Amino acid sequence: MELNNLAGRGSFTRDELARLIALEDPAERELLYAAAREVKARRCGLVTYYRGLIEFSNVCTKDCLYCGIRKSNHACARYELSREDVLAQARWIHGRGIGSLVLQSGERSDPKFVAFVEGLVRDIKALSGGRLGITLAAGEQTEETYARWFAAGAHRYLLRIESSSPALYAGLHPDDGKHRWDVRDRCLALLRRCGYQVGTGVMIGLPGQTPLDLADDLLYFRDRDVDMIGMGPYVVARGTPLGQAAIAAGGDAPEARARRLALGLNMVAACRLLLKDVNIASTTALQTLHPDGLMLGIRAGANVCMPSATPEDRRASYQLYDNKSGVDDSALSSLAAMNARVAAAGDAVALSDWGDSRHFFARAATGKSSS
Ligand code: 5AD
Repeated sequence: MELNNLAGRGSFTRDELARLIALEDPAERELLYAAAREVKARRCGLVTYYRGLIEFSNVCTKDCLYCGIRKSNHACARYELSREDVLAQARWIHGRGIGSLVLQSGERSDPKFVAFVEGLVRDIKALSGGRLGITLAAGEQTEETYARWFAAGAHRYLLRIESSSPALYAGLHPDDGKHRWDVRDRCLALLRRCGYQVGTGVMIGLPGQTPLDLADDLLYFRDRDVDMIGMGPYVVARGTPLGQAAIAAGGDAPEARARRLALGLNMVAACRLLLKDVNIASTTALQTLHPDGLMLGIRAGANVCMPSATPEDRRASYQLYDNKSGVDDSALSSLAAMNARVAAAGDAVALSDWGDSRHFFARAATGKSSS
């Protein structure tokens, strides 16, 4: 495959995607990133959209083997922000001129939680005169819950599939009937049916994962016709079973981290080349593996950033993985750092814009439905 006309290509085979994802040579990787940036410029503009991120609770009923806030991690201090605390952060986001926010939490589906989130969405809509766009990232729920939250005013939802391979997924989660790939996959269809712009994503550089698996992840995004992608490199969390195994296998060594960073950037670029007009986040995991990770993600084709607006005193408790970037920052310094990274990547910031996925409207215009 020629690497010098990637931006002009309409489609890619599975093998071609795997080859792009596996590129190691720095000059070849630069060609890949430049092509992805060209596609972004043409289809989305050289603009990065912001979503202020409020991690409103780390209480979680799931026990994902890789995650620092898994239920069995008793070293994790649990918190739930009060309604007033969440609204204060939402007001701050709105006051900074940021047009959109993400409410993220651990997974729970009890009635109290469902009602709490519904109330937050309504209150945030009210306090901003309807102007703040709201994205939810609160895990697997029933269709009824998704519909309630949509009716309250949320219009985008993020639910990572974690891996499109049911076999890899099974290796990353306990076999207890509560962590099922098919259920998670089905949730994406339910979200679509409720009317959300739907986002999903995966972890990159997992033990046992090959470039072909990652190519399949991109093809899964295409087949599910998703609007937004949030994916990032796997980062070791030492208080977890997978983290312990990874450390023992040398997975936290600098070379291993550098390899996962490169894989993460290659995935962003290959995703942009394949899907073209979707929103792709440059994620905190990239920034955690490299001081310029976020900027490099934008340069590789990402167009969304999520400056953290989680209260400073809670950030250390939302550690999905070790050394998470920004844990010691305030909301204001997170925003300033983000502005500098976006500028360094050569993008403009679209501050007040909702920054909806162009892909969503392109699909709506063609009237293509999806179950
Ligand atoms: N490394 C990278 N990403 C992680 N996540 C959880 N644990 C880790 C980790 N150790 C991601 C998962 C989850 C999201 C909230 O954080 O993809 O969906």
